[in-house]
Amino acid sequence: MGFPLIGDKFPEIEAPTTFGKIKLPDDFKGKWFVLFSHPADFTPVCTTEFYAFALRYDDFKKLNTEIIGLSIDSNFSHLKWVEWIKENLKMEIPFPVIGDPRGLVAEKLGLLHPQSPTHTVRAVYIVDPNSTIRAILFYPAELGRNIDEILRMIKGFQVAEKYGAAIPANWPNNEIVGEHVIVPPASTVKEAEERLKTYECFDWWLCHKEVPKEEATEARKFLERVAKPTK
Ligand code: BEZ
Repeated sequence: MGFPLIGDKFPEIEAPTTFGKIKLPDDFKGKWFVLFSHPADFTPVCTTEFYAFALRYDDFKKLNTEIIGLSIDSNFSHLKWVEWIKENLKMEIPFPVIGDPRGLVAEKLGLLHPQSPTHTVRAVYIVDPNSTIRAILFYPAELGRNIDEILRMIKGFQVAEKYGAAIPANWPNNEIVGEHVIVPPASTVKEAEERLKTYECFDWWLCHKEVPKEEATEARKFLERVAKPTK
């Protein structure tokens, strides 16, 4: 079976979660969602990730984004683990976690590694309001995710869409174009000539443009603040 790729529709999934039954992607039509898988419940790195996702939950909401967890543990195990996190780390997990002990959901998403059949692959799917997969991230078991980068990606997708542009590295603090965004490459000679007249360009294939000051400032403030979350 082939696995979903960027640009594909998110596969249809029905599964039990810590918040009841979930139907993806239908339950989140009109919203962004992040489905993240973790290797196993009651493991240290995964615990730090759950805490970090929970701490930034409101920031995801501000981007019209829901979060869903997933592992091949049972729903019962998830319930015990989120209870442990609440009691010991004083953090409530505000998003549902899919219990998938038979690995049916994980298999559909390419999250079962033959060399590690008892763990789910650590991964992130970012899905847009039309149920299209916009990003897939894979991580090794020993490295926890940077949750701020996931927020930056969603913010970046939203800004890119709004201004018909692409987002440069480290935006809004890019080393070459600052808070500008990248104008999509020209596909005809005429377009290439137009680009040079209309935008700031290093060459016809590397043009950039301003987004409204308040948009870039708001994005910078948002991303700086989410990097220093408070409980
Ligand atoms: C962890 O989350 O700590 C972890 C999970 C699987 C393998 C190693 C570490």
